[in-house]
Amino acid sequence: MADILHKVVDEARQGEAFQTVGNDSKNFKKRFYIESYGCQMNFSDSEIVASILANEGFGATGNLEDADLVLLNTCSIREKAEQTVRNRLQAFRAQKERRPGMLIGVLGCMAERLKSKLLDEEKLVDIVVGPDAYRSLPGLVLEAETGQKMVNVLLSRDETYADISPVRLDSNGVTAFVSIMRGCNNMCTFCVVPFTRGRERSRDAVSIVNECTDLFNNGFREVTLLGQNVDSYLHSDDDGTVDFAELLERVALISPELRVRFSTSHPKDITDAVLHAMARHENICKYIHLPVQSGNTRILQLMNRTYTREWYLNKVKRIKEIIPHCGLSTDVIAGFCTETEEEHQDTLSVMEHSRYDMAYMFAYSERPGTLAARRYEDDIPEDVKKRRLEEIITLQRSHSTESYANDVGKTFKVLIEGDSRRSDLHWCGRNSQNKMVVFPKNEADLAKGQYVNVRIHSSTGATLLGDMV
Ligand code: SAH
Ligand code: SF4
Ligand code: F3S
Repeated sequence: MADILHKVVDEARQGEAFQTVGNDSKNFKKRFYIESYGCQMNFSDSEIVASILANEGFGATGNLEDADLVLLNTCSIREKAEQTVRNRLQAFRAQKERRPGMLIGVLGCMAERLKSKLLDEEKLVDIVVGPDAYRSLPGLVLEAETGQKMVNVLLSRDETYADISPVRLDSNGVTAFVSIMRGCNNMCTFCVVPFTRGRERSRDAVSIVNECTDLFNNGFREVTLLGQNVDSYLHSDDDGTVDFAELLERVALISPELRVRFSTSHPKDITDAVLHAMARHENICKYIHLPVQSGNTRILQLMNRTYTREWYLNKVKRIKEIIPHCGLSTDVIAGFCTETEEEHQDTLSVMEHSRYDMAYMFAYSERPGTLAARRYEDDIPEDVKKRRLEEIITLQRSHSTESYANDVGKTFKVLIEGDSRRSDLHWCGRNSQNKMVVFPKNEADLAKGQYVNVRIHSSTGATLLGDMV
């Protein structure tokens, strides 16, 4: 089923991935089309959904016009993410008028947040399914075919889809994402995720290691372990308790040829044990995404991040002590409720101290139902938020450019992921620190999935350019 066509829009991460892969399958009684928005966990969930539908005899299609079932796997993290989905639904209107039998389903976080309200607001929608209810999707489709509107947004305390083997959508055959947990218990006051994804639960370690081993045996050479807060991974069964450091090590031991990454780490939870595991295993990539959100302790408290500016800076120091050449990136929110100009300056100064290689930066967007929406006033004017965000982006741009320029002259081990986006005469792949490296193919007889050493001769703010050595 690797030939499934899949469109993705990375809204949460501000990327612009919008990719299509493969041919349409012919011998199915019904066809579905799926688009994914939001974070990697949503993309990963779409692969679970594809697997559930395939088992019920649905074939995938990349052609909206051929689809009996059109699915949008949605994100609620910021208002703009939801607006994107609503606009997309409007674009389906003409199709639906032409083919009234075509069903439209909304999955994911927006489905969970709005529940049956979504059916009232968006008349086009036939089915609404939350992130823990995907097993019920085939049944809901059957019912919806009779003209009934269907909703299942039950959240679960234990659903992990551990037994479902994901259909790899839009895959390069080299790198894959593996969900290790679902939900989040952290209750950051700005965040909608605890409401849309429910309680945190960890998937059993054996099923994770098996999935990674299968991927490796099928030619994949890199897995990214996914969770909203991977450092709080904890799973107990008769064979004992596995924490994140232990899980990381178990996956690393599958093969030295299999790279391991993970996302996201919470500064309050990442342990020395995880850092030491990273330092011990060459194949655990030396890269940590450590969202700071704000550099000011009062704002961090209002956000309920549960760490202070000093705690965060100490973590960064610890990372650099234990893993000297570790890549570091972050998430930043500009203009959170009551943030003063000085407090905004603290965010800029935390960036100066941490020197991120890359950052995802956002203006605060109030989300209905969150603790911040209930407790605090969204009182920073839009133009001020925007200006602060611009300052953050400008500073980060200079840090990224500097960080990439510092790599000129160094040699990195790169895992080839495929042709460079700009030219099929060049390979692209990432180094351990997660920086994209582009280099000419030359005469060498190489293929994606292989490791090569590349010496860097120049850089931009987001890419390293080099030659094989
Ligand atoms: N679990 C991850 C974050 C997931 S959401 C963590 O704890 O770090 C990804 C990012 O979106 C967050 O890190 C935050 O920077 C941003 N974000 C979340 N809610 C937001 C909101 N209401 N407004 C603006 N940005 C938000
Ligand atoms: Fe949201 Fe905080 Fe959980 Fe991340 S840790 S998903 S920001 S509540
Ligand atoms: Fe968006 Fe839900 Fe992910 S809100 S960021 S798709 S967990």
